[in-house]
Amino acid sequence: MRILVAGGAGYIGSHTIVELYAKGHTVVCVDNLYNAKLSAVKNVEKIVGKKIPFYKVDCCDKKKLRAVFKKEKVDAIIMFQGYKAVGESVKIPLKYYRNNIDSALTIIELMDEFNIHNIMFSSSATVYGKNAKSPIDENDEALRLNDITNPYGETKAMIEKILMDKANSDSKFKAVILRYFNPVGAHESALIGEDPNGLPNNLMPYIAKVATGKLPFLNVYGNNYKTKDGTGVRDYIHVVDLAKGHVSALKCYKEKKKNIYIYNLGTGRGTSVLELVNAYEKASGKKVKYKIVGRRAGDVDKLYCKPKKAKTELGWEAKLNIENMCKSSYNYENGGRR
Ligand code: UD1
Repeated sequence: MRILVAGGAGYIGSHTIVELYAKGHTVVCVDNLYNAKLSAVKNVEKIVGKKIPFYKVDCCDKKKLRAVFKKEKVDAIIMFQGYKAVGESVKIPLKYYRNNIDSALTIIELMDEFNIHNIMFSSSATVYGKNAKSPIDENDEALRLNDITNPYGETKAMIEKILMDKANSDSKFKAVILRYFNPVGAHESALIGEDPNGLPNNLMPYIAKVATGKLPFLNVYGNNYKTKDGTGVRDYIHVVDLAKGHVSALKCYKEKKKNIYIYNLGTGRGTSVLELVNAYEKASGKKVKYKIVGRRAGDVDKLYCKPKKAKTELGWEAKLNIENMCKSSYNYENGGRR
């Protein structure tokens, strides 16, 4: 297939482009480079050995995006574009609602204009809300739109709803919604990876900066949760496995049964903060200093998925383990990206 990847220069978009090429698909990459660098696209080109058509376009800009749709014939869109900093979304909610919802609507309206029916959306486990009981499966629909803890998460749930309503109104429209758990790690080439601006909000990129001496220590947010060692438990998934999940999910477009497909992309295994710190020390050979501090607002004790539906229906499952995740993260942080 030929696929327009919106937000293709970002962390998950860039890894997905690599895996799409690996399976013989081709890509048109669109990104406004707000939270990504052109060098990521160049590095993807190095990995896949092909030139990738790239447009520096903001997906909220309908005129400019229409020009891309006019020029490039595609069979499907994958939507990675969108702001994703949870804390910032609480402070500046309108920025998140405007950008995330507007860009999604613009893309979906242009699909209508250009007779494109296939879309895939990068959603998040955050849509299950803070009261979801792990392991979570996709049928926990009742939990959707309940207890979502931040505007970023609300935009994910709203875009899911927009896709469902559109699919209900249009039998040709096919939407695949992928709910990610905690994507971490980097490509084995160390040419692409996670490169957050400023102080990382998420655990793995923070540990990476401590291990490489760029930050003095990690704050562990609470050690009195109801978990094995008291620290938060999450379902970390290697970004390369996650990227492959998107490629596997393209088969939904050939299915005739329904026109909305929802999958959890996770490993089904829970890892605590301290387990991840230990695994990182082992994989990197570096000390990761930490201090136990108070809980972070909005955090839950454990969040991990039942990954069975993706395995049964897509034939996809995560293969890489925590050691692979830590090693690739360290290699990238410690001199990759060139
Ligand atoms: C967060 C978002 C989620 C988003 C995901 C993207 C919240 C409440 N949730 O998930 O919506 O989809 O990122 O990957 O922000 N931790 C520390 N010290 C740190 C950072 C984190 O101890 O400096 C702990 C947290 O308390 C948690 C675990 O590490 O137990 C994972 O945190 P994080 O990487 O931020 O991911 P989530 O909070 O699960």
